[in-house]
Amino acid sequence: MKRRVAILISGRGSNMSALINAARAEDYPAAIVAVISNRAEAAGLAKATAAGIPAEVVESKRFGKDRAAFETALQAVLDRHGAELICLGGFMRLFTAAFAERWHGRMLNIHPSLLPAFPGLDPHGQALRAGVKISGATVHFVTPETDAGPILMQGAVAVSDHDTAATLAERVLEVEHRIYPEALRLLAGGKVRLVGDICATTVGAGTGNFLISPLVC
Ligand code: GAR
Repeated sequence: MKRRVAILISGRGSNMSALINAARAEDYPAAIVAVISNRAEAAGLAKATAAGIPAEVVESKRFGKDRAAFETALQAVLDRHGAELICLGGFMRLFTAAFAERWHGRMLNIHPSLLPAFPGLDPHGQALRAGVKISGATVHFVTPETDAGPILMQGAVAVSDHDTAATLAERVLEVEHRIYPEALRLLAGGKVRLVGDICATTVGAGTGNFLISPLVC
């Protein structure tokens, strides 16, 4: 049985599209049953509809600062679609601890840095200002703290001296689109388990080649 997944978005939804495309494969262990945006103008909504996925809006600004009331409305939509797992894809709204705990071990987020480095806003700017030579993206379980929580999968890219936040974001986004579907495949396929703050998987580590940056001739 495929696990039923809802994707939460706030914007363009490119990670959402990567997940929807991956889930088209017959042997993929998850089905995307709904896309829910907290912003009516999110470009991802039209992409979801075009892909044949029910797209819904639960406008967060209608609830002002009352995050719990927003989450009650969101939960009702999740229930209506029978969602078992949630993937956040550029969902720019913080959850209450109660909501995060309710979905403990069943809600993933993707963040464009190698967490725990550079959580929060402007991760690429943070990476460039820190002068790191390798950056990347992280899929992690959601906990009440922002951009924290057990790490399921990471992918890395080399950072060049010529990078701007925009060029780095573009390369990291390619990694995001690779790792998010694979991370969801592991979770939906029952291949991950949480051991306290750590996420362990039954599959091996990545292949033996490693990434060194800058290039040494
Ligand atoms: C992605 O780069 C995602 O990693 C980031 O927002 C972008 C959404 O793009 N998320 C965060 O920064 C979460 N802290 P998308 O709408 O095209 O998937």
